[in-house]
Amino acid sequence: MATARRSARASAPLSLRLSAWAKVNLYLQVVGRRADGYHELDSLIVFAGVGDRLGFDTADDLTLTIEGPFGATLPVDDGNLVLRAARALRDSQSVERGARFTLEKRLPVAAGIGGGSADAAAALIGLARLWKLAPDEAELSALAARLGADVPVCLYGRPAFIGGIGEAIERAPPLPPAWLVLLNPGVALATPAVFTAYQGTRRGAYSSPARWAEIDRDAAALADRLADRRNDLEAPALSLVPEIAEALSALRRQPGCLLARMSGSGATCFGLFAQQTAAEEATKVVAAERRGWWSVAAPLLHGRLDRPWWGEF
Ligand code: C5P
Repeated sequence: MATARRSARASAPLSLRLSAWAKVNLYLQVVGRRADGYHELDSLIVFAGVGDRLGFDTADDLTLTIEGPFGATLPVDDGNLVLRAARALRDSQSVERGARFTLEKRLPVAAGIGGGSADAAAALIGLARLWKLAPDEAELSALAARLGADVPVCLYGRPAFIGGIGEAIERAPPLPPAWLVLLNPGVALATPAVFTAYQGTRRGAYSSPARWAEIDRDAAALADRLADRRNDLEAPALSLVPEIAEALSALRRQPGCLLARMSGSGATCFGLFAQQTAAEEATKVVAAERRGWWSVAAPLLHGRLDRPWWGEF
């Protein structure tokens, strides 16, 4: 009887949904260039409490359906990072099962907030659970790095300094409670184009990595620390999408905005706020001023994201 129940449970169809949180680069400095053309970075990455949602159901084959406000902008093809991640995990673990994915695309695409990378990381985490695997963490991180430079940190899922091209992850010191307003001017921006423009504009030596052992537990102090850092991709991105300047000045005009900067390779910009009310008010104002732009207020997520990552909602 007990055996029958166990096997029934083991073969019961499973269904789960995970969040794939937006990643935000609080600063991003290019510290070198590798022989293969990839750029070595020094960046402080955090996650904001807004994301895509990825649903999983047991199935024999791997299939993907995309929906949500930004679903139409993303082709469902074999190049999708969710399917690429699934295939890579299946091959590395010699799994013969599939999964039916439903991706609710709530984050803008090609936007500098790692939507595709977070989806891939969520796919790896969810499939490990669906397929009852226990992959080695280092192996899984190496597999993630092969999918894209930002996938390992999305898999890590907590505030981190990153080095190398994104694979060298160092836990960030505890960050203060803070809110982020994300603002995207509605223009997709491909990462390789921004790095190419960066090469065209770069002058002088690369800067060296600059990290903090501690961060004050107050959002204004965090903004002060960030003020002498930059996003080196901001100027090249701006040369391709001039609306980024408008997004930055719109954020800077909002009461309570402690710092505004572009995230990743753009075009999404973020404003850092101490208070939820100020962040939500700022979002309302910028949304009313610019129809067709995407804006959202979200808390900066702290600690391990295990609960939201692994939890069903
Ligand atoms: O790895 P991912 O697919 O996100 O990178 C897209 C492109 O961005 C790469 O092909 C490369 O041109 C550029 N890139 C880079 N240095 C990085 C990350 C990305 O030059 N650290």
